[in-house]
Amino acid sequence: MKNITCVVGTRPEAIKMSPVILELRKDKDFHVTVLSTGQHTDMLIQALNDFGIVPDVNLNIMKKTQTLDYITSSVLQGVGEFLDAHEQDMILVHGDTSTTFAAALAGFYRHVTVGHVEAGLRSHDLNLPFPEEANRLLTDRITKLFFAPTKGDADNLIREGIDSNRIHITGNTVIDALYAILESQKGMSEPEYMHKANGRPLILMTAHRRESWGETLRGICSAVIDVIHKRNDVVFLIPLHKNPVVRDVIHECLDAYSDNVIFTEPLNYPEFVYAMNRSEFILSDSGGVQEEASAINKPVLIMRTLSERPDAITHGTCILVGTERNNIRDESLRILNDPEYMKSITAKNIMPFGNGTASIKIHEAIRSYFGI
Ligand code: UD1
Ligand code: UDP
Repeated sequence: MKNITCVVGTRPEAIKMSPVILELRKDKDFHVTVLSTGQHTDMLIQALNDFGIVPDVNLNIMKKTQTLDYITSSVLQGVGEFLDAHEQDMILVHGDTSTTFAAALAGFYRHVTVGHVEAGLRSHDLNLPFPEEANRLLTDRITKLFFAPTKGDADNLIREGIDSNRIHITGNTVIDALYAILESQKGMSEPEYMHKANGRPLILMTAHRRESWGETLRGICSAVIDVIHKRNDVVFLIPLHKNPVVRDVIHECLDAYSDNVIFTEPLNYPEFVYAMNRSEFILSDSGGVQEEASAINKPVLIMRTLSERPDAITHGTCILVGTERNNIRDESLRILNDPEYMKSITAKNIMPFGNGTASIKIHEAIRSYFGI
């Protein structure tokens, strides 16, 4: 029996690690522990709940205001204490958050094999996204088994000197999650926000990136207002991130536009997938949304200056618009006003992030690593 701990801390880690947890748990040779650092509270539990997963251990570290130092040191300490008390053969981390890096470091310090799901993504700018690009690089220095979503991600790792025998190209587990939810969504009743939208064209917007806090986020909100002024028939659906630094600014800028803006709390995953499907297009700075939208062929204007997911852009559905107010406004209006342009934003190659079998491939690679 091999003991494997799957670490999750934030919403995207929960969504993307859930298919892996469910796959590994089918295997009688593995004892799987789900450890939540609690970097996120309700947003993490909500996402795990959509997959029927309850953490076995919860470090509950979240505070209303938390610094990067605080998150990193408390995760390192908490995961370290867990590993000291419960001998593990492998620790699996996901992605690029502070939970990811600090948990991997706790494993490394104890010579526990670190497996990194969604390894190899690179923006090649240490400050964008911040601190995620650094977290990816640091985690991959101490990882033993790499699960790279795409060939491009694997090539990044090889360029950094990682032995290709330790890299498995798996697709992104978010596609597994998306397919599972699309299946379970059949027969789901219309979410509340659809009543408020009342048949109007819907634009889904999410924004939370740390590098956009403050003035950049205000500029994004100004672009939303510009679009409303030009196209009063549309409605923006904005599921607010729980971070007060983000939600306070968005409320302050957009509360006056309640005829054209629907605010919700973070949507559960089925409701969010429903919203992606029903929207005309998506405005977002999220990583996961770029991958999901490419699988459902939905245009996304990425409000970032670069992406570590180049396949989402060459795929054709994701357009990098940057964070400038005028660019976001102009590109949004172009999509809304020009049906030919809208039609041209379609997939140019098939499924860059895999076909929903990433977690099966990760399971097989882990069995093979243990020689079973
Ligand atoms: C974190 C990750 C980021 C990831 C994002 C996904 C780091 C440094 N940042 O950013 O990489 O893209 O999650 O959403 O790892 N809060 C709640 N309830 C929740 C979650 C958050 O109230 O369930 C509030 C708390 O006040 C918390 C704040 O949001 O202090 C910020 O959370 P934090 O995890 O530090 O940063 P995020 O911006 O969420
Ligand atoms: N998501 C969700 N409900 C929401 C907003 C997003 O379930 O209200 C999902 C979304 O489908 C994606 C993930 O959460 O899978 C993205 O999380 P987030 O934007 O917090 O982080 P990022 O992807 O930017 O790291």
